[in-house]
Amino acid sequence: MDLIDALRSRRSIKQLEGDVSDADLRELIELATWAPNHRMTEPWRFTILRGAARDRFGALGAEILGRDSNLTGEAREIALRREAGKALRAPVIVAVSTRTDADPVIAEEDFAATAAAVQNMLLAAPARGYGAMWRTGDLAHRSETKAFLGLDPSDRIVAFVYVGKPVDSAPAPRPREVEGVIRRLD
Ligand SMILES: Cc1cc2nc3c(=O)[nH]c(=O)nc-3n(C[C@H](O)[C@H](O)[C@H](O)COP(=O)(O)O)c2cc1C
Repeated sequence: MDLIDALRSRRSIKQLEGDVSDADLRELIELATWAPNHRMTEPWRFTILRGAARDRFGALGAEILGRDSNLTGEAREIALRREAGKALRAPVIVAVSTRTDADPVIAEEDFAATAAAVQNMLLAAPARGYGAMWRTGDLAHRSETKAFLGLDPSDRIVAFVYVGKPVDSAPAPRPREVEGVIRRLD
């Protein structure tokens, strides 16, 4: 697929299934690392969650929700079960994190570079027959999640990239506003 078409047709695919081969996953991550990166700091890290690791990740989400939620009884059970099941919306989740440099400018640029790396993955996935979705949510900002992933407390989680075979066809694209987001200085 032509790159311009890939840009226009990229969509978040909520439900993914099947499997992602190690070779394909490695290639998606390799492609991610072609993102621009000021000072070549290579700030990104990719933590792959498969199989039982997804169950443990879902259980972590349910545990945190259970601690924070005021829900009781059946509503609580339903909410916790739903939370635990979220990690099963794809066969593979890649947690993409970035290091946090002591210099705030470098830290910000490293975060931006890692976000660009995530977009590379999202654009590359369909070219290999996969769907993908960038998710964050509460878990992306929790120290418990960093500990679970074996990250440093100072690291930042930029994305959970869900990858797999699309269950449904991609939703129709919404129209883009272009003129309204442009300012011209001559
Ligand atoms: C930084 C970031 C975080 C996101 N986090 C979530 C999320 O936690 N849950 C979710 O459903 N979608 C999340 N998304 C996906 C957006 O909701 C999605 O891109 C948006 O709805 C537009 O749909 P599209 O990607 O198909 O164009 C996130 C996207 C970005 C860029």
